[in-house]
Amino acid sequence: MKIDGKSYRTIWFDNNIVKIIDQTKLPHQFIIKNLKTSKDAINAIKTMEVRGAPLIGATAAYGLVLSIIEKNDLSFLKKSSEDLIASRPTAINLKWAIDRMMKKLLGVNSNEILKIALEEAKLITEEDISFCENIGLNGLKIIEKIAEKKKDTVNILTHCNAGWLATIDWGTATSPIYHAHKKGIKVHVWVDETRPRNQGANLTSYELNEEGVPNTIIADNTGGILMQRGQVDMCIVGTDRTLSNGDVCNKIGTYLKALAAKDNNIPFYVALPSSTIDWKIKDHKKIPIEERNSEELSHIEGLDKDNKLKKVLIYPQKSKVMNLAFDVTPGKYVTGLITEKGVCDASEQGLKELFK
Ligand code: MRU
Repeated sequence: MKIDGKSYRTIWFDNNIVKIIDQTKLPHQFIIKNLKTSKDAINAIKTMEVRGAPLIGATAAYGLVLSIIEKNDLSFLKKSSEDLIASRPTAINLKWAIDRMMKKLLGVNSNEILKIALEEAKLITEEDISFCENIGLNGLKIIEKIAEKKKDTVNILTHCNAGWLATIDWGTATSPIYHAHKKGIKVHVWVDETRPRNQGANLTSYELNEEGVPNTIIADNTGGILMQRGQVDMCIVGTDRTLSNGDVCNKIGTYLKALAAKDNNIPFYVALPSSTIDWKIKDHKKIPIEERNSEELSHIEGLDKDNKLKKVLIYPQKSKVMNLAFDVTPGKYVTGLITEKGVCDASEQGLKELFK
C-alpha cells in the first residue's frame, strides 16, 4: 500500500540487511530502519518498531536469516530462535514462523543454509500478502451485501491496527475495506483510538488517510453509543491468536466491542490468515497474555509546539498502573472468521470444515 503516493511493504531484505518502517515514530515521522543482527530483530519486535501478528512473524523469520549471516552455527541459530519466540508472547505467528523456518533449516548443510533460510523467509512474506489479499476478496462480499441493502455509505468500526502496517501488505481487517474502496463502494471507518499505544489513531487512521479511505478516530469508549444510534453497520477486527474453538485473542478492548455489537445486533467479524490459528489450545486461559510496561499508559508521546516529539507523564506519580495488552472474545460473539480460504463460523466445526 502507499505512503505519500509511493508503494511500500512493511519489511524487505536488501543487501544482507532487513529494512523495516519504524512504527514507533508514525504518524509523525517516517523512518526506515536497518536490522543487521538477530538481536536487532528481537529488539524491533520487543519495542514494537514492528508489530501486528503477521509482521512480527515475518520479522522473526528474517531474524533467523540475520542470525545465520552473523554466525553460521547451529547452536547460535537455536538460541536465536528461542530468543525470537520469547520476544512477544501472545501472537502465535511468531512461533508459527520460527517453527516453520527451523523445520526447513535443521539438518541442512552449512553451505546452503543461508540460501534456504532466505527463500523461506521470502516465501512467508509473499504468502502473507496473498493470504491478506484473499481475506480482502472474501470480506468484500460481506461489505457488498451490506452496501446493496443500505444503498448508502457502509460504516465499519475497527480496533487497533490490523492494517497493512500490521502485515506485509493489505492488512487483515483493512483488506476488505481497501478492496471495497477500490471498487467504488462508499465506506467510512470508525477508528478506535486504542489506548494505551494508540495503534488505531497513529497507524490505522494514518494508513487509511494515505489510501484516501474516509475515517474518523473515536475514543475507545465511543463505539457503544455509535452502535446504539445505528451509526455502525459492521465491525471488523484482527487477531493475534484464534483458538481452534473459535475464541479470538486480540488487542485489549476488542471483547467489549464484541459485547456491544452483540447487544445491538451488529455483525462482528474477525479477519485472519491461517498462520494466526492456534490449533493446539482450546482453553483461552492458556494463552499467554502480554503485560507491558506501565509507562505505555502513564506517559503519552506527541508533537510539541515546536513540532518536536515529546513524551509526558499524564497520571499521578504515585498511582499503580496495569497494562494488559490483549483480551479474548469468545467465538459466540463473533459473526464469522474471514480467512484466506473463505468465511467460517467462529467455532471448532467452522474452522475444521474450512481448513481440514
Ligand atoms: O500490540 P500490537 O500492536 O502488535 O497488536 C496488534 C493487534 O492486536 C492486531 O489486531 C493483530 O495483531 C492482528 S494484525 C493483522
